[in-house]
Amino acid sequence: MTMCVVPRKGRFLLNISTAIAVASCCIVGGLNAVGVAAALCYPALFVFGDSLSDTGNGNLTGNIFFTRTSSRPYGETVPGYPFDRFSDGLLLVDFLATRIGLPLLNPYLNSSANFSTGVNYAVSGATAQTASSLNSRLLIPLTTLSLDVQIGWHLTLKSTTTPPPNPSNNTSHDNSLYVIEIGGNDYIVALTSFLYSPSYVATNFIPLVIAKIRNATEVLYANGARNLLYIGVTPLGCSPSLLSTFLLGAKDSNGCLTDINTLSYNHGLSLLNLVNQLRLNYTDATFSFLDYYAAYTQVIGNSSSYGFSNTLQACCGAGPLFPYRYNPLLFCNALSTTTLDTLCANPNTFINWDGIHFTHKFNSVIFNLTVNAGSYLNPPNAFSTCMPSM
Ligand SMILES: *[C@@H]1O[C@H](CO)[C@@H](O)[C@H](O)[C@H]1NC(C)=O
Ligand SMILES: *[C@@H]1O[C@H](CO)[C@@H](O)[C@H](O)[C@H]1NC(C)=O
Ligand SMILES: *[C@@H]1O[C@H](CO)[C@@H](O)[C@H](O)[C@H]1NC(C)=O
Ligand SMILES: *[C@@H]1O[C@H](CO)[C@@H](O)[C@H](O)[C@H]1NC(C)=O
Ligand SMILES: *[C@@H]1O[C@H](CO)[C@@H](O)[C@H](O)[C@H]1NC(C)=O
Ligand SMILES: *[C@@H]1O[C@H](CO)[C@@H](O)[C@H](O)[C@H]1NC(C)=O
Ligand SMILES: *[C@@H]1O[C@H](CO)[C@@H](O)[C@H](O)[C@H]1NC(C)=O
Ligand SMILES: *[C@@H]1O[C@H](CO)[C@@H](O)[C@H](O)[C@H]1NC(C)=O
Ligand SMILES: *[C@@H]1O[C@H](CO)[C@@H](O)[C@H](O)[C@H]1NC(C)=O
Repeated sequence: MTMCVVPRKGRFLLNISTAIAVASCCIVGGLNAVGVAAALCYPALFVFGDSLSDTGNGNLTGNIFFTRTSSRPYGETVPGYPFDRFSDGLLLVDFLATRIGLPLLNPYLNSSANFSTGVNYAVSGATAQTASSLNSRLLIPLTTLSLDVQIGWHLTLKSTTTPPPNPSNNTSHDNSLYVIEIGGNDYIVALTSFLYSPSYVATNFIPLVIAKIRNATEVLYANGARNLLYIGVTPLGCSPSLLSTFLLGAKDSNGCLTDINTLSYNHGLSLLNLVNQLRLNYTDATFSFLDYYAAYTQVIGNSSSYGFSNTLQACCGAGPLFPYRYNPLLFCNALSTTTLDTLCANPNTFINWDGIHFTHKFNSVIFNLTVNAGSYLNPPNAFSTCMPSM
């Protein structure tokens, strides 16, 4: 493992000051640089989803699997201290909020937070299907705070808040941007139960997941939402956790599990199909699709040109003695003398952070490729008039 040398203790001290500089550039400087007078389309941002979008709800549930995000090394790269996110840095929705001129989103479960420019309802472990519906298939999700619960939170909160005016005079919730990023956990919980094969999950679960996203959309639309962004699932077969669970599974040219990637790809096809139906049905609303699967495939297939030397291993967790540097019993956790040795030397060269979630660098590359550059985004110019020039 030449790319993963045992880090010296001192590197953290060095990295934290660097990371804070990077963080101020991204969070504060990003807003300053754009200037408030530029086009701000959305007075607020509302996010529904799972750990890929969770900015603190998981931590606040107190579930010990999620509270680790409030300890190092989570947040180690940006902002340089624990930031309640499953990453060493920022998430796609953080980059999105900043890019459309809004502050980073507060988690709904922080009842003392200011929600005037949006709310993050995403909860780590959340599924599109309800917990009871999964239970009926003998599956137990990590949290019961499913998409329906998150939509319910929104309906409650919407009646009590008003977004502030902004230069476009678009001041109502109706003009806000609504993001739905969910489904991965529905598939992961089914696959890792060993009760259902990937092809069974594809045939039987994708329609259920899409039906929940459709229903959520109808409820949001009925409550005024007119700008919606759908984020697909990642190629789950490239995830160190699933790769190490199905060690002997057939692999594609990127080293990812073929059948699980087929499932992930088909989810994206069905989600795009839903988006196209919604466009026909609700002609006064805009629906966008971020093809996470395709963007990820582009990056993993050309990893070195994006600066990644390690595409399939977890940066933080079990360390180099384990396949894919992953073991569920040694999941990335509070830094201690043992886990210190199992953190990779440079998270910026890794796609994967903890076996399930992504590094700050990877999230920034995917964001740049999709929302900024318009690749793997449908339509490509979905946000181009809403992003003040950089
Ligand atoms: C995480 O949640 C706890 C409460 O469970 C809270 O005290 C803490 O401030 C939260 N965030 C961080 C970064 O510690
Ligand atoms: C909740 O929000 C308040 C107000 O912004 C903030 O001071 C506090 O740190 C937040 N707590 C958590 C756990 O995020
Ligand atoms: C919440 O934030 C907005 C602007 O972001 C501000 O105008 C408002 O005063 C804040 N509300 C509270 C209670 O701090
Ligand atoms: C649709 O969503 C609402 C709000 O989340 C929920 O109460 C309802 O049960 C859902 N219906 C279906 C058929 O999923
Ligand atoms: C916003 O509304 C105010 C008051 O109605 C008006 O003076 C101003 O010109 C409007 N700004 C834009 C950009 O439409
Ligand atoms: C206001 O919002 C509507 C739709 O929500 C959008 O079409 C329009 O471009 C926005 N106006 C401005 C000035 O951003
Ligand atoms: C189309 O919209 C109507 C309400 O306008 C709704 O009842 C129906 O379920 C929608 N169909 C789809 C496919 O979204
Ligand atoms: C690498 O990038 C090229 C050009 O964008 C693309 O056509 C190709 O499919 C990518 N390779 C892989 C393996 O995805
Ligand atoms: C973002 O993409 C642009 C091209 O669209 C590229 O020039 C730039 O280097 C990228 N930045 C990062 C941080 O990946």
